[in-house]
Amino acid sequence: MVKAVVAGASGGIGQPLSLLLKLCPLVDELALYDVVNTPGVAADLSHISSNAKTTGYLPKDEGAKSAFKNADIIIIPAGIPRKPGMTRDDLFNINAGIVKGLIEVAAEVAPKAFILVISNPVNSTVPISAEVLKAKGVFNPQRLFGVTTLDIVRAETFVAEIAGKSNPQELTVPVIGGHSGETIVPLFSKVSPSVTIPDDKYDALVNRVQFGGDEVVKAKDGLGSATLSMAYAGYRFAEKLLKAAKGAKGLVEPSFIYLDGVPGGKEIKEKTGCDFFSVPVELGPNGAEKAVNILTDLTDKEKKLLDACITGLKGNIEKGITFANKPA
Ligand code: NAD
Ligand code: LMR
Repeated sequence: MVKAVVAGASGGIGQPLSLLLKLCPLVDELALYDVVNTPGVAADLSHISSNAKTTGYLPKDEGAKSAFKNADIIIIPAGIPRKPGMTRDDLFNINAGIVKGLIEVAAEVAPKAFILVISNPVNSTVPISAEVLKAKGVFNPQRLFGVTTLDIVRAETFVAEIAGKSNPQELTVPVIGGHSGETIVPLFSKVSPSVTIPDDKYDALVNRVQFGGDEVVKAKDGLGSATLSMAYAGYRFAEKLLKAAKGAKGLVEPSFIYLDGVPGGKEIKEKTGCDFFSVPVELGPNGAEKAVNILTDLTDKEKKLLDACITGLKGNIEKGITFANKPA
């Protein structure tokens, strides 16, 4: 029996993500938690004639604890989204506290759950999550994931456009690093099957992958950021993880992980100097079974992108760790 939880389930990402999970044959129980509207969202979804038993919880009567209890997978898109002109780091002051509170509950009532953090800034909210889990004595780095799949999804789409491929999903486009601006590093030299990116299109393509989120924020004009593509991306990662947990082999997807605790991660930590980094991760019954070292044989352009990424990412990680450890 698999119990999945969405925290932030009434929001722009939360609702379509909950719909996809409700349709997923791998999910037996779906618990929706938010500070508003979950009774309505749960009642609505519960009429769909799929397998998952769906329930909604609000903060009253310790609703978060009831929702999270004994969960196998907890997906967190709770928190505010960007408006035009904002960076993801501008969300830190509000979202850091929201994520910290939710992870405290997870640590208490579902210490073995896979935790997928979507709330921005991911570069900081994942380190916050790790520190909270460590403080509670239940941190398992193989089970904590920062969801960077939307960067991969965008890269697949934009590369396919330029390379003239009709089905973007036939491409594997590694995107590594973090999840904001220059910390997002697409590795076009490692696309499989290989593609040729014309020199005069390279910089614009990198920029579009790094700043694809801004494109959506601008187009939504004050009404938030990517929700539907993010729900797809979050579901894609969750589905792979659930399949891998049930024994499916060969499932790899990049994710922002704590390198030290995942086999293969130490080498990547040595190379980047970062404790957390997004790299392709082999998924399996324990979660992150192996961090794939894709940082070898990079082109000169990719090495430059990596340098810029590392500088920004270290600051974001440190900010999260400092926040999580400051006395209440
Ligand atoms: P939204 O405002 O539409 O929804 C957020 C939901 O969180 C709301 O329903 C709100 O009530 C709920 N919420 C607030 N505090 C809560 C708490 N303490 N407990 C539970 N729920 C709480 O926003 P959205 O568009 O769904 O975006 C959510 C987050 O996801 C933002 O931080 C956004 O930046 C981030 N995001 C990340 C990615 C990524 O690639 N990782 C992509 C898109 C958006
Ligand atoms: C994205 O990449 O779309 C998200 O991180 C949301 C944002 O703020 O851009």
